[in-house]
Amino acid sequence: MLDITNLSASYGEARVLTDVSVTVNPGEVVTLVGRNGAGKTTLLKCVMGLHRDYEGGISLAGAPVDKRSPDQRAKAGIGWVPDDRGMYASLTVAENLTLPPVVHSSGWSLDKVYDAFPVLRERRNSMGTQLSGGEQQMLAIARVLRMGSRLLLLDEPSEGLAPVIVQRIGEIIREIKKEGVSVLLVEQNVKFASTVADRHYLLAQGRVVEQLDNADFQARESELLVHLGI
Ligand SMILES: Nc1ncnc2c1ncn2[C@@H]1O[C@H](COP(=O)(O)OP(=O)(O)O)[C@@H](O)[C@H]1O
Ligand SMILES: [Mg+2]
Repeated sequence: MLDITNLSASYGEARVLTDVSVTVNPGEVVTLVGRNGAGKTTLLKCVMGLHRDYEGGISLAGAPVDKRSPDQRAKAGIGWVPDDRGMYASLTVAENLTLPPVVHSSGWSLDKVYDAFPVLRERRNSMGTQLSGGEQQMLAIARVLRMGSRLLLLDEPSEGLAPVIVQRIGEIIREIKKEGVSVLLVEQNVKFASTVADRHYLLAQGRVVEQLDNADFQARESELLVHLGI
């Protein structure tokens, strides 16, 4: 579904990603794990086309997207949930959910969204700013599901959320996977990552230093926590 090949990215003179290759297969959940500053968010921004200063190739379902704008990449099926959740604070929950264009027929109906996220139905007339962190994260994920994206880029969805909400986000990711949607997930929460993902890439100082399947990742959890300094 997604192939990132030998990608190097910079901000001006500063190189922040070097020779990164990452693959996400159809229906697969893959995490990017690494310390703050490792380059995880930058990699997601490159995939979305929001950071253009990169070399190397990004393909979606075999088709290169490097020359495409963020808008065109969204239409091609890439959905981005930024680390700040990126919702429209001055719009209601319902307005946030009806604004994004549906890019694919698999886009979730409003009813399907409300059935999966009952709290959003309850709060449909609340402003974005009135939502808790967990509700904002659910809204942000629901928005890309409405669009029918085939590949979701989730940037630290569990950050700052209570354990019970993190668990719910995990269930949602597993439901998304069942529908055949692929997920590239940035996570610092190693335990959470191991409950949702099939494979993991460890990023350190802008390079992929290791690739692990989930069994290896779980077996090495305590070592990874030290490595990540969490
Ligand atoms: N807009 C920017 N301009 C310059 N440097 C940036 C910018 N955004 C991020 N960086 C730098 O790039 C590196 C990687 O950042 P980032 O991708 O946000 O890492 P992560 O998401 O893993 O914490 C860091 O050293 C960060 O300071
Ligand atoms: Mg980040």
